[in-house]
Amino acid sequence: MKKKSKLNKKIFLPVNRPIVTEGDAKKIYKAVKSGWISSAGPDIILFEKNLSKFVNRKYACAVSSGTAALEIAVKSLGLKKNDEIIMPTFTIISNAIAIIKNLAKPVLIDSDLDTWNIDVKKIEEKITKKTKAIMLPHIYGFPCDMDKILKICKKYKLYLIEDAAEMLGQNYKKNKCGSFGDISTFSFYANKHITTGEGGMVLTNNKSLYEKIKDLKNLNFGKINRFNHTDISWNYRLTNMQAALGVNQLKRINQIIKKKRFIGNYYYKSFINNKNILIQPKETSYAKNIYWIYGVVLKINSLKYKTEIQKKLFKKGIETRPFFWPMHKQDIFKKLNLFKNEKYPNAEYLSNNGFYIPTGIDLTKKQLSYIADTVNFITR
Ligand SMILES: Cc1ncc(COP(=O)(O)O)c(C=O)c1O
Repeated sequence: MKKKSKLNKKIFLPVNRPIVTEGDAKKIYKAVKSGWISSAGPDIILFEKNLSKFVNRKYACAVSSGTAALEIAVKSLGLKKNDEIIMPTFTIISNAIAIIKNLAKPVLIDSDLDTWNIDVKKIEEKITKKTKAIMLPHIYGFPCDMDKILKICKKYKLYLIEDAAEMLGQNYKKNKCGSFGDISTFSFYANKHITTGEGGMVLTNNKSLYEKIKDLKNLNFGKINRFNHTDISWNYRLTNMQAALGVNQLKRINQIIKKKRFIGNYYYKSFINNKNILIQPKETSYAKNIYWIYGVVLKINSLKYKTEIQKKLFKKGIETRPFFWPMHKQDIFKKLNLFKNEKYPNAEYLSNNGFYIPTGIDLTKKQLSYIADTVNFITR
């Protein structure tokens, strides 16, 4: 009888597995038992304090998600209808919807094929009198070139909303990502470096923006008459129970980044001689990759071929996820008549041909070796 591969039957390696320790669970239990189960409580205060210290910002405001953080960030700037915000097309939809929901206009920029971040060289040609801000997500573990971005912001007097959702613990030169924006945001979704299940944070050094941000996440309750509200806003509050998890996870951030780098560098070494794929840099003069995820871009430009490769990997027990789908190609934005006839070849290339492979911090060396060998074998 033909021997079946038991290994492949048993193996399932997800792209990520959130690690919640016994110690984390105890902290959540303690928070629940204390009765602080909603959005006030000592763990919220501590989470905000510890995160602002870690990122080196004066003020932090915990919110219910990274998407909520971005919506609040845009609204706090008090923009006028049709004011423009520049952002990359290759990113999560949260960036664009935060702008659109606030009645401003997203203006898209193509990606840099080396780093997969916004192509800084293409920003200035898109700046108009209506441009008020740059929204800057750092993509997949490698930061944007902040010196160049900050120079543009200064020259044209633009706000910077730095979306550091994928970057907790990453540095640009000597400073932490999340410390550059007039407003910076994070996400603590289950696949992020630290998680609160769902959650996010808005950070700033500007006291008056901070006051606005606090009101916007909390329905703009009146200061004198609580139920006489002063603006249209949201209930985007994080709970104290979630914050308790965040506080405990944040204690391990350096360990988590170390393991992520180990995984990323292992893959980097395994793939650097594979002529059929593109990968992000390991390091440049301004940063070392922290590999929030590990992306692989196939050189053969074909969405169909990519899907086949993903299916083959899945059969081998290796889960993959496709890259972001660019904003100018989103069905919803086509319906809204946005970005009509706009073309961004690099972003299209990345999204057509890119997928990411497992990078959970519980992966063993044996599993990494299996994943790397299988990817190399299948993409040969
Ligand atoms: C760059 C970026 N910004 C924002 C978000 C949205 O965060 P959340 O899922 O917490 O709403 C994500 C989520 O993956 C992200 O990658």
